[in-house]
Amino acid sequence: VPGSVPVICVDGPTASGKGTVASAVAAALGYHLLDSGALYRITGLAATRAGIPIDADHAGQIAALIAQLDITFTPDQRVLLDGEDISLAIRSEEAGMNASLGSALPAVRQALVQMQHDFRQLPGLVADGRDMGTVIFPLAPLKIYLTASAAQRAQRRHKQLIEKGIPATIADLRADLEARDARDMNRATAPLQAAQDALLLDNSDITVEEAVAQVLAWWEKRQPFA
Ligand code: DC
Repeated sequence: VPGSVPVICVDGPTASGKGTVASAVAAALGYHLLDSGALYRITGLAATRAGIPIDADHAGQIAALIAQLDITFTPDQRVLLDGEDISLAIRSEEAGMNASLGSALPAVRQALVQMQHDFRQLPGLVADGRDMGTVIFPLAPLKIYLTASAAQRAQRRHKQLIEKGIPATIADLRADLEARDARDMNRATAPLQAAQDALLLDNSDITVEEAVAQVLAWWEKRQPFA
């Protein structure tokens, strides 16, 4: 019964550490992982490649394109589009911005719902995104809203990019993520917000290990699901 497969939702703003925390929690529990942001990033990349502008006038066309995409998440967390490894291509700032643009279109969100529900498989799922707890898995027994200050998030993102050899400035990154936050929080459909029953976790001044330990401790208390 799909209803008996437990889901842990990790929602929050861009670069709050959601991806890192969600993937570590999934690994610790042996659960599946849904990186829903990757689906919006893939959509943005595919639309751009197809020459389709990412705006309201083309939402239907983008939704139709989504239905034809062949997306694979490999066990080692690479992302394939029609067999091509696009893991790096979807991580750029531009890809993030295009993802955010497309994600504001209701038809695009709708076209990705079933794909997200399909990730819910035994023994359980950790789902990372903006609307996991509010829209996609509203009955999930544990919902986390992970935040961090804009300054901290810009700094972490900067470190990640520099380590990958991608040039960036902290000021540009901060302006970028604040613009993206504003769009993600203020859109009409499935805006970024904490679910009413979400537990807030401020990731500004704690380590990844501490954040993961907190989530696992909350999950322990959610027996008999764990
Ligand atoms: O988590 P991320 O940075 O990879 O997400 C990229 C964009 O996709 C984000 O700016 C907003 C959108 N998104 C969304 O609208 N809903 C989700 N569940 C996940 C991402």
